[in-house]
Amino acid sequence: MSRPRIEPVRFVPALPWLCAPRAALDAPRMPFPFSEARLRYTFSGTAAVYQGVQALGLQPGDEVLCPAYHCGHEIEPFIRKGCQVSLYRVQSNLEIDLDDIRQRLTPGTKALLVTHYFGFAQPALEELKALCQSNGTLLVEDCAHALFSDNAAHTLGRAGDIAIFSFRKTLPLPHGGGLLINNPELSLDEPTQTPSGLSTAVKAIDLYKKALLQYGGSRYSLLKRGGLLIWLPLLKLAEIAWRMDFPSRMQWYDPDDEGLDFDSEILSWGMAPYCQRLLPALMSPDIRARRRHHWQQLAMALADHPTIRPAFSSLPAETCPLFFPIQVDAREQWVKNLQAAQIYAAPWWEAHYPKVDWKPFTEATALKARMIALPLHQDLTETALSRMINFLHSH
Ligand SMILES: Cc1ncc(COP(=O)(O)O)c(C=O)c1O
Repeated sequence: MSRPRIEPVRFVPALPWLCAPRAALDAPRMPFPFSEARLRYTFSGTAAVYQGVQALGLQPGDEVLCPAYHCGHEIEPFIRKGCQVSLYRVQSNLEIDLDDIRQRLTPGTKALLVTHYFGFAQPALEELKALCQSNGTLLVEDCAHALFSDNAAHTLGRAGDIAIFSFRKTLPLPHGGGLLINNPELSLDEPTQTPSGLSTAVKAIDLYKKALLQYGGSRYSLLKRGGLLIWLPLLKLAEIAWRMDFPSRMQWYDPDDEGLDFDSEILSWGMAPYCQRLLPALMSPDIRARRRHHWQQLAMALADHPTIRPAFSSLPAETCPLFFPIQVDAREQWVKNLQAAQIYAAPWWEAHYPKVDWKPFTEATALKARMIALPLHQDLTETALSRMINFLHSH
C-alpha cells in the first residue's frame, strides 16, 4: 500500500524547523499550558501520566478509576506502578457517565482519570471535580488530545490535581509531553534524563522526510524538496548507527510505537532541550483557528451523509479539535477505501488494552469497533481537504 498523502499530522518542511532557534523558552508569551510555572516537560503523554502518578504519591495496590474508552497508554503507567485499575462507563457520545462514577467510587479510590477525547472538554468536569473532592479522590485530567482546547469556564487542564498533555500529537515535534501540577500540595522535581540528542535528531529528520514526501502540488518548492538530498544520507547513517545498537536500543525508542513492551525507564524521561527550544517556533497563533475551520468544513460536508456519523454534533467555542472522528459500521472497508485513496484513516483505538476488563462496557467496545479519525490538522491544505471531502461525498 502506498503512503497516505493526507497524513494525520502536520510537519511543515522548512529548514528553520530543523535548526531550532537557540532562544531560551519564552514562557510569559506562550499560551496555556506553556505559560504555567508548574509544567514539567516530559518525553510523551504516557511519561507524563507516569510522572503524575509519582507526583500524586500513588502506591502499589491503590485503587484508580479510569474511563472504559481508552487507548491503553494512559492506563499502563498506573499498572506499572502497581495500582489496581478499574473502569467506569463512557457513553456513546464520548461523555463520561457521572452516575456510574458515583456508584463505582469507594472510600479507597485514590485517583480518577478523565479524558477530553479529541480535544472536546468533558461537560461534567466541574461536577466530577466536586465529586472527587468530596470522596478524597485525586483527579487526573488527560489532555493528550486537548492542547489549545478549553471550555467556557476555562477549567480544562486546570480542574485536575494534575493534567497531562501530549504536545507531539498537535505540534510537529519528535517527542514531547507535559505534566501540569495544579494542586499546590503536590510537587515533583524536573526529570533529569532526556533522550539522546542523536535519537531526537534522527526522529526529527525522519519527520522532515515524511513531510517532504507527503505534500504534493506546488506548495513546496523544488528547493525545499531538494533538502531531502541533504537529509536522506544523514538519516541513513543514523539508522545504520541504530542497527549497530549504539548507544542503546532504548535510547532509540520511537514515541509513535504503539506497543506496550517499552522499558519503564523511558517513562521517567523529560523532553530533549532541542524540542523545548522548538516549541516557541511552532506555536503559531492560528493553530486552533485552522483546525476549527477544517472541522467546520468537514461537519458541513458530512451533515447529511447516509452512513457516516460524526462523533460530535457541534464544535464548542473554545475547542481545538485533534481529529474529525466519525463512526461507521463497515469500518474495515472504509479504512481500506480511504487508504487506497491515499487519505490517512486509522481505525481509532482498535486494539483492546489487555490488562483491564472490557466486557461490561458495551458502548466503549462499540466505539472501538466503529471509530475512524479523519485528519484536520493546521497544515492540511484546502486542496487536500477538498479532495477528502469529495471522496467522502462520493462513497
Ligand atoms: C488519551 C490519551 N492519553 C495519553 C496518551 C499517551 O500520549 P503519548 O502518545 O504522547 O505517549 C495517548 C496516546 O497514546 C492518548 O490517546
